[in-house]
Formats: sequence, structure tokens, C-alpha cells
Amino acid sequence: MASGPDIITYIGVPLAVLGVAPIIYNTISTIATVMKVKRMLRRGRLAGITRGDVINHVIEVELPRYTIAPLHREEHYKEYWGLCDYPSKIPGGSWTIFNWKCHKIGLKTQRIDYTDQLRQPQAEIGFEELISFLLDLGAIPSANGFRMLRGSGLWVPIGTPLLLSPDGHETVLTIAPLDDSDGNLSLAVKWSTNWGMRDQSSLPPYWVLIKGLPAQPSADGDNPETIVPKPVEETTEESAKTDGNDTLVTKTAKYIPTIEEAIPAIRCQIGINGLIAAIPDDFDPQLFDQLSIGHLEIDDMNTNTTGIWFASAITAFGTSSQTILWNYKIPSDILGFAKKDSIPCGILVLLGVVGESATPEWATQYDDDGEKREEQRKKLKEQSRAMMKENQLPPDQKAAAIRERQLKSHDDWVESLNTTRRRDAQRVETRMVEAVQSPKWDNKLVAEHNLAWLKKEGHVEESHDLKRAVEVLLWRMVNDPKITGDLVTLLDSWKAFVDSGGIRRVDYQILKENQVAFANASLLVTIIEDSVSAALGSLAMDLQECIRVWRKVRLG
Ligand SMILES: *[C@@H]1O[C@H](CO)[C@@H](O)[C@H](O)[C@H]1NC(C)=O
Ligand SMILES: *[C@@H]1O[C@H](CO)[C@@H](O)[C@H](O)[C@H]1NC(C)=O
Ligand SMILES: *[C@@H]1O[C@H](CO)[C@@H](O)[C@H](O)[C@H]1NC(C)=O
Ligand SMILES: *[C@@H]1O[C@H](CO)[C@@H](O)[C@H](O)[C@H]1NC(C)=O
Ligand SMILES: *[C@@H]1O[C@H](CO)[C@@H](O)[C@H](O)[C@H]1NC(C)=O
Repeated sequence: MASGPDIITYIGVPLAVLGVAPIIYNTISTIATVMKVKRMLRRGRLAGITRGDVINHVIEVELPRYTIAPLHREEHYKEYWGLCDYPSKIPGGSWTIFNWKCHKIGLKTQRIDYTDQLRQPQAEIGFEELISFLLDLGAIPSANGFRMLRGSGLWVPIGTPLLLSPDGHETVLTIAPLDDSDGNLSLAVKWSTNWGMRDQSSLPPYWVLIKGLPAQPSADGDNPETIVPKPVEETTEESAKTDGNDTLVTKTAKYIPTIEEAIPAIRCQIGINGLIAAIPDDFDPQLFDQLSIGHLEIDDMNTNTTGIWFASAITAFGTSSQTILWNYKIPSDILGFAKKDSIPCGILVLLGVVGESATPEWATQYDDDGEKREEQRKKLKEQSRAMMKENQLPPDQKAAAIRERQLKSHDDWVESLNTTRRRDAQRVETRMVEAVQSPKWDNKLVAEHNLAWLKKEGHVEESHDLKRAVEVLLWRMVNDPKITGDLVTLLDSWKAFVDSGGIRRVDYQILKENQVAFANASLLVTIIEDSVSAALGSLAMDLQECIRVWRKVRLG
């Protein structure tokens, strides 16, 4: 028979042990999880606080939330162009693969039971900065991704790629789950060292490269003032050594061009307010000397349109080829002007740019030969009649009559000369009026003919197409304030007569007197017109719109 104590021993103790076991188990597993979390945080170099509640088996993790931004491209180039040594493997921490400028904006506390519930708070970053940074590294945008994002916003499926690896095979930037994003766009990022990066010497986003012409021996004599770009005043002491012979001895002398040699390629940075900087393409990043661009800056009062025209033209040039990300918005009045047909084809005929046969009929045709023949016939008939009459007269009267007839015929001749002269003057007048009223041509057509004319006159190389001619022209504008001034004056007066109802005779006179500038200007106007149609429905447009809508995104 078992006694009371025995019962306690054989049944009670195991029961008690069974009761305590979960507590022991919880304690051990909580401690283990806490240690694992701490290890994970340490591995990712994350400054977090971990607390364990042993009884309830709950672990509290407190992690900082950051707002991040790309590092300075030149000052921190090593970090900018390299990956982080200790990327965090915790979900939500994909951004730690790169080095960033970080700023702590708060703490996020989470309660978890298991380590795989741990999330790193997403970082907040300007969408545009992010895109421009990744494009700079060499990522390529996915047209499809941006179209979907623009169309569906937050409903875009998770995993949709926005940016792809340089070879286009893998994803770099994708749509991430909305977990932690408070309704902000949520993205994840990835990069692999195998992909290769662009480097510091690559053209950054928002920059446009314009190639000029190679330096030429001064054989083509029509432009004796060879372009001499002036480097911006040096401020560093070592550069200011002048040895009395007017020779600047500077470290940067290698790309300060000599008289005949202009810088063949220039990088231009375009910002919201137009041209920001222009530097030679083969620059040494340590020196970073700029060309003088004072004549192309947009002035605050908007009284001087030079900067606006240049920024519009170079933006249009850039967006149609290399740049998908741009800051400068071409003013709507300039876009409107560029889209409008404003040059009548008759004016181009008068300027000698187009043959009359190439235009639809716009001028009165005169049948001068027929008229002349008729006139002559009449005159002959009169003459013979007069001579017949003279022959019937007595001889003394006959001599007088002949003299009379000859005098009259001379008068008639003078008269007819005068008439012809008056008529011709009248016709020139009429032709002018008709030219002004002739059908207006699209700016593209005008530019094509002007380009052919520029080639014929030796201003543009035979092999250049419109795009290339514009590039050379932009390059000249950077180098030569005088050409810029002439061009802008013409563009202003062109726009002014379009705004005030169309071309008049005085406007024609201006075009005629500055015909090279007019032809050049029409190339610029066309490239601006082109950029409108090129941008519509394009990747560039979608991207621009997405950046406008999603200013800040969560990256994790
Ligand atoms: C995005 O996040 C910020 C806080 O970072 C929040 O104020 C805002 O409401 C969120 N949602 C949207 C749609 O911007
Ligand atoms: C100027 O150059 C000449 C030779 O080219 C040299 O002899 C002279 O010393 C230089 N003058 C100065 C002030 O360095
Ligand atoms: C505009 O500015 C440029 C450069 O400063 C100057 O050359 C040009 O004459 C100015 N044009 C007008 C109309 O003031
Ligand atoms: C013809 O023109 C000349 C000079 O232009 C002028 O002297 C003459 O009177 C004109 N004759 C007639 C008939 O109009
Ligand atoms: C027109 O463009 C050509 C080629 O770029 C250049 O040589 C010429 O100087 C320009 N002239 C004017 C007035 O813009």
C-alpha cells in the first residue's frame, strides 16, 4: 500500500517538473533568440537594443530609423563607387549594401517571437536622388516598370523591377512589400560586384556631353576668330604664377587650349535653373576646372533670354539621346513657339534657301513673253500703216512725218522702259506680300532646308545631320559669347513676330540680314520641337512623372 508521502513522490514531483518545464524551455529559447538577434545586429553593424521577456517569450528589438542620401560623388568617391563591407542581411535592410550619408530620425520598436520575424526599419530617401545614384552606378531603367508605376501607383505588383543591372539581366531596384512604409512607396535594392560599375569619369546624370569639332588648321578662312574658351579665373595660389611673359603656368595647363585649339568635348550640367557648369570632358577630377559660362546663365529677372534658350536647346538635345533624367523644364511659351509653324515657304524662296519649284504655288505667274510678243506685233502693224500713209504724202510733208514718227517711237520706247521698271517694282512688292501670305512650313522642314543651305555656304560640315549640327552649335555657344548673342537676338525677334501675329516685311529684312544666325536658330527650334514628340509616352516622361509624384520613398 502506498503511503501519502509516496504518492507525493511518485506522482507529485513529476507533475511539478512537468509544470516547470515550459518555463525552463521558454527561458532557454528566449535567451537563445535574444543572443541570435544580437549576433545578427552585430554582423550588420546595427546599433539596436534587444530585450527579452522570459516569462512571455517575447523579444523586444529597438532599431534606429534613418533617412539616407548618396554620398558626394567626388569628395567621397571611394565609398560612393564601392559597396558596403557589412551589409545587413535582415529583411528591410537591403539598402545597407551601399554606403550612404545617414541621419537618424527615430527609433522603431518591434516585438518578435522568432528571429525570422525581425525586420530592419526601411530607410527614407529622396526618390530622385536614389534613381540618379543608381543610374550613375550603371543601372538601366526598365521602361515597363516605370510605366506600371506611373499607371498603377501602389498597386504595382511586388517585385516589379524599376531598374535593371548594367547587362539588363537582373533586377537592381524593385517594388517591395508595403509592410513598414506608412503608405509610402516601398522599394528594395540589390547590387552585385560581378556586374561592374561605371566610374567617376563617367558622365553623371543631369549632365550632357557635347562634342565639338576637332581643332582645325585655320585653312577654312571664313571664321578667323578661332574660338578660345576661357577657363574660369584660378583662385589657387599655385596657378597664379605669371612670369612676366604672359604665360600662365598652371597645373591645369594641359587643357587650357592654345589659340587654334578648342576643347573638343564639353560636359554641361543642367539644373532646374539652367546651365550650372561646363567642364572639359577629359577633366582631371582632382582639379575640376570650369569653363566660363557667364554668358549662358539664366538671369533672375528673366529679362535676358540667353540662358533660357540655351538650357531649352541643350535639354532638348540631351533628352532625345543620352539623358533620361533631367531637371530643366523647357518653358511652355518656348515649347509653344517651337511647335508652331511660323515661316512661310515663300519667305524661304526669297531668302534663297528653297527653289520655287519645291514649294506649293504661292506667287502670281506672269506671262511676260506673250505680252511682249503681242506688243511687238502691234507696233509693227502701226509702223507699216504709218509708213504706207507717209508714202502717199508729198515729199516735204513726208520728211516731217518720218521725223515725227521716229520721235514718237523713241518716246514710246522710253515710256515702255519706265513702265517696265514701275511694273517690276510693283511685282517685287506683290511677291513680298504673297510670300508673307504663302503657306507656313513646319519648323522641321524649314530646318532641313536651312541645314542644306548652311552646308552649301560652308558653315556646317557636309557629313553632319541635324542632331550633330545642333551639337556643334551648342558647343560653339559655350565657347563663343558672340555667336550666342547673335543667335539669341534672332531667336527673340523670331519669337516676337510669331507672338504678335506673324512675319512682316521688317521681320523678313531681319532674317535676310542675319541669315546664318536664322538658319542656325531654326536648327535649335526644331530640336526643341522634336523633344516634345520624343518625350511623349516615353520612359523619360514616365520616370519624370513618377519622381514628381513620389518624392520620398522607403528603401528596405
Ligand atoms: C510617408 O511617410 C511619412 C513619414 O515618413 C508620413 O508622414 C506619410 O504620411 C507617409 N505616407 C505618404 C503617403 O506619404
Ligand atoms: C620671358 O621669356 C624669355 C624667353 O622666352 C626669358 O628669357 C625671360 O627671362 C622671360 N621673362 C621672365 C620675366 O621670366
Ligand atoms: C544677355 O546676356 C549676355 C551675357 O551676359 C550678353 O552678352 C547679352 O548682350 C545680353 N542680352 C541682352 C539683350 O541684354
Ligand atoms: C521716264 O523716267 C525718266 C527718269 O526716270 C523721267 O525723266 C521721264 O520723265 C519718264 N518719262 C515718262 C514718259 O514717264
Ligand atoms: C552658325 O553655325 C555655324 C556652325 O555651327 C557656325 O560656324 C556659325 O558661326 C554660326 N553663326 C551664327 C551667326 O550663329
